[in-house]
Amino acid sequence: MRVLVVGSGGREHCLAWKLSQSPLVKKIYCAPGNGGTATIAQNIGIGADDIDALVDFAVKEKIDLTVAGPEAPLVAGIVDKFEAKGLKIFGPAKDLALLEGSKIFAKETMKKFNIPTADFKIFDDAGEAKAYIREKGAPIVVKADGLAAGKGVIVCASIEEAEEAVEAMLVKKQFGAAGEKVIVEDCLEGEEASILIFTDGETIVPLVSSQDHKRVFDNDKGPNTGGMGAYAPAPIVSDELFGKVNSKVCVALIEGLKKEGKTYKGMLYVGLMIKGGEPYVLEFNVRFGDPETQAILPKLKSDLADVMLKTANNDLKNVSLDWDERYCVCVVVASGGYPASYEKGKVITGLERIENIKDVYVFHAGTKLDTEFVTSGGRVLGVVGLGDTIEEAQTKAYSAIKNISFEKMHYRKDIGSKALKFLNEKVK
Ligand code: AMP
Ligand code: GLY
Repeated sequence: MRVLVVGSGGREHCLAWKLSQSPLVKKIYCAPGNGGTATIAQNIGIGADDIDALVDFAVKEKIDLTVAGPEAPLVAGIVDKFEAKGLKIFGPAKDLALLEGSKIFAKETMKKFNIPTADFKIFDDAGEAKAYIREKGAPIVVKADGLAAGKGVIVCASIEEAEEAVEAMLVKKQFGAAGEKVIVEDCLEGEEASILIFTDGETIVPLVSSQDHKRVFDNDKGPNTGGMGAYAPAPIVSDELFGKVNSKVCVALIEGLKKEGKTYKGMLYVGLMIKGGEPYVLEFNVRFGDPETQAILPKLKSDLADVMLKTANNDLKNVSLDWDERYCVCVVVASGGYPASYEKGKVITGLERIENIKDVYVFHAGTKLDTEFVTSGGRVLGVVGLGDTIEEAQTKAYSAIKNISFEKMHYRKDIGSKALKFLNEKVK
């Protein structure tokens, strides 16, 4: 098979790496890819959002399977455009990519199918939104409806902060079209976890659970980022909880859509808040998570290309996944200053020293391969360790990172520690 991976992050390097292990895969292209994908695939100079150019490329190069990594092309309808040309692609069609593209669509869908989520109201008028906020009190959450590169959710500790968020979205239009409507939603307290599933609209094949670390500094301090690290599995997701997520969320959604004549196909990412042993959906994403993917796929023993192809072919019914039982920890190494402004073009040294360490993997995100690897983004690398315990996986990843260096590099020192805390408390 000739495969095209669309995107340029750590997720895409990890997807390409896993796909490259498949005996079904002969050649991989990445559009546009990064320094890491350049070493295992052929990067092509087409951006992830240039859908027409991607279609032309796939036709010309006889691509057998395309995998769209990021949300923007999915929400813009890349799947419909590929399928219209008879090209096979992994992902949901535009009408259901709206589960990520419009938070209002997602919340209304959840409400319709009785999927547990925080109570909410929708507003396009700032005055009405503010009145509702004053009535509900703080903490409270304000969300822009559309895609806002992860910045459209504001968890507000005070009424004033929530009013400011409404003002920024509905009046000052700081989020553009994404903020023309907002959701004001109850604030849920608990612990977050993610469940990802493959589905062809009939069968649900879950991956192992995982947990992201969204804040930039240790102990969940500082602003939100795209994700500073992840681990899998997440011990907070017991078998019982996994069962509840499957029936109350995944089956409810996929079956509900089916009854409406809609087929959700591809990857569904369920972002959860776990409160009192019950799951509540914070968000749906219509793609693999980043950096969750980098903590999940090193544990996957099954052939990813085969599963993706079967998903695209509506043929998941006999598929089950084999897993390495060990823990996997992915630590994101970022540019100093991220998620605010940061410098690029810093030479990365030491990567060759960790290339051959057993149970350690490095997935590139914001890197470029010139004559050497240089930084080109906020999140630069994901360094992954596998181990029988969380501590062992952490030690693997953190010892490997010590070999790597670039000017102003920054990473969290506590990725995976929440799992340890949870496990220790359970023992007590
Ligand atoms: P989302 O993109 O909807 O997942 O929101 C981004 C982050 O905001 C989540 O990962 C949570 O940390 C937080 N968040 C979103 N909705 C809520 C909520 N209703 N209560 C508390 N935190 C929330
Ligand atoms: N790690 C969160 C996401 O991919 O949206």
